[in-house]
Order: sequence, then structure tokens, then C-alpha cells
Amino acid sequence: MTEINLLHNKRGLIFGAVDERSLAWHTALACKRCGAQIVLANTPIAIQLGTIRNLADSLQIPLLPCDATDVEQLGTLLDEAQRLLGGKIDFILHAVAMSHNLRRHKPYEEASYNYFLRTLDTSALSLHKLLATALKMDAVAQGGSVVTLTYIASQRTVMGYNDMADAKAMLESVVRNFGLIYGERKGVRINAVSQSPTPTKASAGFDRMNYFYRLTDELSPLGNANADDLADLCVMLFSDFTRKLTMQTIYNDGGFSNTALTTRFADTYSRAVELAKQDTE
Ligand SMILES: NC(=O)c1ccc[n+]([C@@H]2O[C@H](COP(=O)([O-])OP(=O)(O)OC[C@H]3O[C@@H](n4cnc5c(N)ncnc54)[C@H](O)[C@@H]3O)[C@@H](O)[C@H]2O)c1
Repeated sequence: MTEINLLHNKRGLIFGAVDERSLAWHTALACKRCGAQIVLANTPIAIQLGTIRNLADSLQIPLLPCDATDVEQLGTLLDEAQRLLGGKIDFILHAVAMSHNLRRHKPYEEASYNYFLRTLDTSALSLHKLLATALKMDAVAQGGSVVTLTYIASQRTVMGYNDMADAKAMLESVVRNFGLIYGERKGVRINAVSQSPTPTKASAGFDRMNYFYRLTDELSPLGNANADDLADLCVMLFSDFTRKLTMQTIYNDGGFSNTALTTRFADTYSRAVELAKQDTE
């Protein structure tokens, strides 16, 4: 766990912590530990039904309501965040996603297009809206850093990830397009972190998740990255140590994205095949 004062004097906005499993929750804790001043944001319904207020109270930091798909609300949030933090924002975590098709177990080939559009709006366009609004308001400080969270299903097909795969592909494209604009005009970095499967509220909607964690863990030379591993990486990306790193999708996945077979997985698979053979004999 990071304890260094890497974010001393930095002002941050953290979007998307709903409960103690949330990736944004762990990141907020790590940023605070590393000396940042932060503001939390989530939808009114998430604030009402989740436990994010406990996080805000325990860290003694402001919590603001905002639907990330609503441009007007984003403007108000950015205004209020700057007022509370006492200046322009140095870093933003966008940890926002939702698929009603996934939640309602609608297979990809039977997607509701109404839900599909909402998935794209919430999980990808919300970053565009946030960055476009912040640009107009000049709300991000020179040398600032924005991080969003993505998943490898944007690049390689993962059974059951559904319309969220399309949303993540779009999200990574928004990172590159705004990375150019923000880099040239503001000297601000924008990156996506592609995280290992991690048990959270959002990932619980994904069928057979328990087996999936084990599978990816065994197929990753370093094992799955957990929420604290992600939090430490975000601290690094928000810090000045990564000042020339931008427009990237960074895989925080224990090596999974570059691995076809590990010894651990081969052992498990051979044992399972032997057991299946004995069952049929
Ligand atoms: N958990 C994983 O396995 C995993 C892996 C890779 C990437 N990610 C990504 O990490 C991010 C955070 O997800 P998580 O796993 O921590 O789950 P989570 O459920 O804790 O977080 C998702 C958040 O999105 C918020 N949200 C939904 N609609 C919103 C809206 N309209 N406006 C503002 N906020 C809204 C929710 O309230 C919630 O806080 C997501 O983008 C997710 O796709 C997660």
C-alpha cells in the first residue's frame, strides 16, 4: 500500500464509489493517504442506496450528487468541486459504468437498443461529456491527469460481457481523442487502466463471475490485480512521476493480456480432464 506523499497539494475529483468494494472507494482512500485533497461524486440514487456517505464522513471530505450523463449537472459539479477544493482540479478518476442489458441478463444478440444506448451513454459518453464540459470551463489544472477504467473485452472478445464491450471500446477511443486535445491545449494527460476482474457491485452482474476470477487469476503470471493494486497505480498516474504518459490503455492485470498459458492453469486443467475421464470410465 502506498504511503508516500505523492499527491501532496493536489486536488482531485473521484467519480464512482458506491460501496466498500468499489474500485473508486479504494482509490479515494489511497489518494487521501498520499496527501491529496479530494471531492467524491456519484448519482443521487447511489448516494442514497450505497455506503459512499460513510467514506465521505470517515475521510471528512465533500460528497456531491451528479449524474455523469447530464451535462448541466456535470457543469454544476465541476464548479462546486473547484470551489470546495480552492482551485482547478489536478486529477479526475472516472469509474462509471452500467449496462441494463447485463443487469437484466439479456444476451448480446437479443439486446434492448434502448438499454444499449444507455450503456454507451453511461459507460463511454459520460467521459466525453465530463471532459468536454471541463475543457469549456477550464476546470483541469495544467499538468493534470485524468484516468478512466476499462476492461480487456474492448479488444478481445469475452463471453457474456455484452454491450459493455462496445462501450469500453468507445471509452478507450474517447481517451485517445481527448488525450490529443487536452495534451496540446492544457498539458493534461488522459489514460485508461484496463483492470483484472475484481469483485464489485458492477462485476456481480456478469454471469459465472466466481469461476471467471479464478480462471483469469490462474492465467495471469502475477495473479489478478485487486482493488488496492489499482488504487496504487492510480496514485502513480495522478502524480508528477507519469507526466509524459498519456492516451494509453494500461493493463493492470498481472500479465493476463500477454499470456496464452501458465503453469498454474495447465496444472488445474490437466487435473480437471483426468477427473472427467475417471468419471466416464
Ligand atoms: N470490477 C471489475 O471487474 C472491473 C474490471 C475492469 C474495469 N472495471 C470498471 O471500473 C469502473 C468502476 O466499476 P466497479 O467495478 O468499481 O463497480 P461499482 O459498481 O462499484 O462502480 C460503478 C459506479 O458507476 C456509477 N454510475 C453508474 N451510472 C452512473 C451515472 N449515470 N453517473 C454517475 N455514476 C454512475 C455507480 O453508481 C457506481 O458507483 C467501471 O467503469 C467498470 O467497468 C471494473
